[in-house]
Amino acid sequence: MIELIVTKDGSHTIFDSELGVWHHSVNGALQESTRIFIELGLLEKAREGKEIKIFEMGFGTGLNVLLTLIEARKHNYYIDYTTLEAFPLPAEKYEALNYDLLLDSNVLQQLHQLSWNQKHDVMDGFSLTKIQNDLLEYRFAQKMDLVYFDAYSPNTQPELWTEEVFRKIYDAMNTGGVLMTYCSKTVVRKTLLAAGFNVEKHPGPRGKREVLRAIKV
Ligand SMILES: C[S@@+](CC[C@H](N)C(=O)[O-])C[C@H]1O[C@@H](n2cnc3c(N)ncnc32)[C@H](O)[C@@H]1O
Repeated sequence: MIELIVTKDGSHTIFDSELGVWHHSVNGALQESTRIFIELGLLEKAREGKEIKIFEMGFGTGLNVLLTLIEARKHNYYIDYTTLEAFPLPAEKYEALNYDLLLDSNVLQQLHQLSWNQKHDVMDGFSLTKIQNDLLEYRFAQKMDLVYFDAYSPNTQPELWTEEVFRKIYDAMNTGGVLMTYCSKTVVRKTLLAAGFNVEKHPGPRGKREVLRAIKV
C-alpha cells in the first residue's frame, strides 16, 4: 500500500508499506531534495552554463522536477529533463501532495498528467520527457550533464546500485557531468569509483552528514 506521510519540514513524502521504504527522508522531503539535487547538483552545474540535460532515476512524486522547473524559471536556464519511473503513482496520491501549496506553484498536477514516453515543452526553456521503464532496461538516447540518482536504497534495491548500472550511466554522460546521490555508503562510493567517476563527499541535508557527488572527468 502507498501512504502519504508528512515529513519534519511539513512536506509530504510517500511510504510504500510493501517495500517498507520512503521516497524521501522523514527529516524533510523538501529540504532533502533542495540540498542534494538543487543546491549541490543543479546550481553548481549551472555555474558552467545554463543549458543542462538532466536525467533522473525515479520520478516518484515529481518533487525534483518541480524544484528544477522553479529554478529554471528563476535563473533562465535551458533544461532538457528526462525522468524514469517504473511504477507511476496513482492520481489519488499525486493529487494529494502538498508541494504546490508549499512552493507557491501550480504545475505539479500538470507534470503528473503529461503523457509518458513523449517530450513535452512545459515552458520556454524547459522540456520534460517522462519515461515509464525499468532502469535496468532503459537505453539512453542522448548524453546527460546532470544525473539525479534517486533510487530506493541499496538495501532495498541492490540491483540498481551496481558497477554495471553506474557504468551505463557514466557512458551516457558528457565529460564534466555530475551524478548526485543521497547515499554515502562506502560500498556505493567504491562502486562509483570502479565505474570511472571521481567522487566527492559533501555535507548533506539536516539529518544526513554526507552525500555524494560523482563527476565524469
Ligand atoms: C526514492 S523514490 C524517488 C523519489 C522521487 N525522485 C521523488 O522526488 O519523489 C524511487 C523511485 O524509483 C522508482 N523505481 C523503483 N524501481 C525502479 C526501477 N527499476 N526503474 C525505474 N524506477 C524505479 C520507484 O517507483 C520510486 O518512485
